Amino acid sequence: MTLRPLAPERGGPLVLAIESSCDETAAAVLDGWRSLRSSVVHSQIPVHAQYGGVVPELASRNHVVAINDVVRRALAEADCRVDDLGAVAVTRAPGLTGSLLVGIEFAKGIGLVHDIPVVGVHHLAGHLMAPFLEVADGFAEPDWPFVGLIVSGGHTSLVLAEAPGRWTTLGRTLDDAAGEAYDKVSKRLGLGYPGGAVLDRLAQGGRPDALDVPRPMVRKPGYDFSFSGIKTWVANHLDATGIPDGETRADLVASFQEAVAETLVIKTMRAVRDTGVRRVVLSGGVAANSRLRSYMRERCAKKGIDVVAPPLSLCTDNAAMIGAAGYEAAWTAIESGSGFVTHDLDASSSEPLDRSPRDAA
Ligand code: KG4
Ligand code: ZN
Repeated sequence: MTLRPLAPERGGPLVLAIESSCDETAAAVLDGWRSLRSSVVHSQIPVHAQYGGVVPELASRNHVVAINDVVRRALAEADCRVDDLGAVAVTRAPGLTGSLLVGIEFAKGIGLVHDIPVVGVHHLAGHLMAPFLEVADGFAEPDWPFVGLIVSGGHTSLVLAEAPGRWTTLGRTLDDAAGEAYDKVSKRLGLGYPGGAVLDRLAQGGRPDALDVPRPMVRKPGYDFSFSGIKTWVANHLDATGIPDGETRADLVASFQEAVAETLVIKTMRAVRDTGVRRVVLSGGVAANSRLRSYMRERCAKKGIDVVAPPLSLCTDNAAMIGAAGYEAAWTAIESGSGFVTHDLDASSSEPLDRSPRDAA
């Protein structure tokens, strides 16, 4: 089913999108729900790396410091001024409350001063819309329904996407996110934070069947995940063997990576089978993982299922995807001529995706 939002794909009013839910301060300007004029991402990784994970208090403070310049650069790269904007779309949930509030209040400030609407966007809706943004390094044509697998440092969710804004969460992690497992294993191996890309590279040189890493929850019915068991298995293994290097380390990492990828693929294929949809969308930082991508493509190809994933720059957190998910609500508010409205926009650290009404994306 080809179903497009009502809002223009391109050539519409300019919307500034802001994302600050975790440790990336990001801004983008769009002139349609698929049409990106600029996208700027300021990563706080150097700030958090020394602590081995995101420190919420530091994240909020760093958003405060970075956000002016990030928004200014996004406007400059889009060759526009704040006066040219028709609306602002901002991530309102889920995420670190203090971090979300920085973006939300910055957006409201712009809305108030320039008398333009400000709409809230669910972060996971952004991840689901990311593959359809028209960017030079690859994009997919919008086609619904699909099963979306959102895998990042903070989230692991399987979603049935019937249309933009019509999301049903089928399953989610009961404990750690897949990216969190990567980051914790990396920390244990002394390989720093974040660990995903480093372990992905190291795994290339190892044997994925060298160690029998568990695949938690795969025999349980349903679509939920659990990754803390895999992480604990690795920790216990390291307690027994000591920290390996060379081939032994590569074998461990490859076996860990295989267990994570296989678990994600098994549950996704189960959702595909049960819902009867013909498309899988991969998104979130872990969607950059080479084994997850290849494994998912192999399994889907056998069943004639289409797999789409955004380019790497749109897998990890960014504001372009927030603009894509929020453009329709922003455009509707602009069309209504209401000026500065916020619909009582507030931050929520944990609001489920399914509760996001279509008009608030
Ligand atoms: O989406 P994202 O930027 O932020 C969150 O919302 O969490 O995802 C970051 C996560 C980190 O846990 C990082 O280790 C993981 O994505 N990641 C990867 C890879 N690249 C990033 N995990 C596995 N393989 C990769 N190539
Ligand atoms: Zn994310």
